[in-house]
Amino acid sequence: MKVLIIGGGGREHAIAQKISMSPKLDKLYCAPGNAGIGQYAECVNISVMEHEALADFALSKGIDLTVVGPDDPLAAGIVDVFEEKGLRVFGPRKLAAEIESSKVFAKNLMKKYKIPTALYEVFESAGEAIDYLKTSKYPIVLKADGLALGKGVLICMDYDQAVKGVRAIMEEKQFGTAGNRLVIEEFITGPEVSVLAFCDGTHILPMTSAQDHKRAFDNDQGPNTGGMGTLSPSPFYTEEVDEFCKKYIYQPTMDAMKAEGRDFVGILFVGLMLTKEGPKVLEYNARFGDPEAQVVLPRLKNDLVEVLEACIDGRLDKIDLSFEDNAAVCVILASDGYPGYYEKGFPIEGLDSFRGADDYFVFHAATKNEGGQILTNGGRVLGLTAIASDLKKARAKAYEAVDRINFANKYMRKDIGRVIDQVED
Ligand code: AMP
Ligand code: GLY
Repeated sequence: MKVLIIGGGGREHAIAQKISMSPKLDKLYCAPGNAGIGQYAECVNISVMEHEALADFALSKGIDLTVVGPDDPLAAGIVDVFEEKGLRVFGPRKLAAEIESSKVFAKNLMKKYKIPTALYEVFESAGEAIDYLKTSKYPIVLKADGLALGKGVLICMDYDQAVKGVRAIMEEKQFGTAGNRLVIEEFITGPEVSVLAFCDGTHILPMTSAQDHKRAFDNDQGPNTGGMGTLSPSPFYTEEVDEFCKKYIYQPTMDAMKAEGRDFVGILFVGLMLTKEGPKVLEYNARFGDPEAQVVLPRLKNDLVEVLEACIDGRLDKIDLSFEDNAAVCVILASDGYPGYYEKGFPIEGLDSFRGADDYFVFHAATKNEGGQILTNGGRVLGLTAIASDLKKARAKAYEAVDRINFANKYMRKDIGRVIDQVED
């Protein structure tokens, strides 16, 4: 088979690494890819938003399966474009991807189908939102409706802060048209867990759980980022929680999307908060998480190509998913300054020391190859994943290895996996 992956981050590297192991694979392409993905795939210089050019490329090369990584092309309808041209593609259509690209749609869906989530109201004007804030309880959560690079959620401690937030989102359009509508949501607390699930429109197969570390600095301080590190499995995701989520969240979400005529085929990412009242959905994404994929996929035992094809063909009920009985911790090595301003283009040293290791993966998030020299090329540069028999060992292994990789302005969080110490062994 010839497979094309769309994207060029750490998530796509993890997908490429897994697909490269498939006995079904003859040739792998990735658009645009990066220096790490180049080890397994021929990288093609077409951007993820050039859907016609990507589909023409797939047709010209006789691609048998295209896998879409990022949210933006999914939200813009890349899957619809590929399907119209008769191409086989893995990911939700535009209407189904709205479960991520519109928080208003996702919240209304959960309300209509009684899927547990935080209480909320939707506003179309700043004035009405501000009126509502006068009688609200604090803290309170503001969410821009559309995609905002993971930055569209503001937690406001008091009325003044919330009014500033409403103005920034709805009047100053800090996130562009993503702020045309606003969700104001009740603030809830508890451990956060990410569960990614394979979906075929009817059936849903959840993968092993993971946990992200979204804030830029240690102790969960600083601005939100795309994710500074992950671990899998989450120590909070017990069998009891899993049972609850299967019954009240995962399958009901699939059924709800079907009932709305938006059958969901692809990866459903369920962001959960485990509150005292039980698990609640914080958000849905319509794709693999990044860097969740970097700890979940290395633990997957199945042939990924086979599972993706089962999703497209609606026969996920015939698949037995299994994961290694081990643990993974991923520490993101970033450019100092991310998610704000940072410099790039610095040489990366030490990558070779991981070659051939089967308990370490160095996933490239933003790198480029210039004449054989690997350079930093973005905010999140690399994801260093360590595998071990349990979470504590995986965390120790990850941090033992971070100094083997060097580049100018390297920054990382020192406390990825701090939650491991909060749970009894
Ligand atoms: P999201 O982009 O929806 O994942 O939100 C980003 C982060 O904001 C989440 O990972 C949570 O830490 C936090 N968050 C979102 N919604 C709420 C809520 N209703 N209550 C408390 N924290 C929230
Ligand atoms: N790491 C969170 C996300 O991929 O949205």
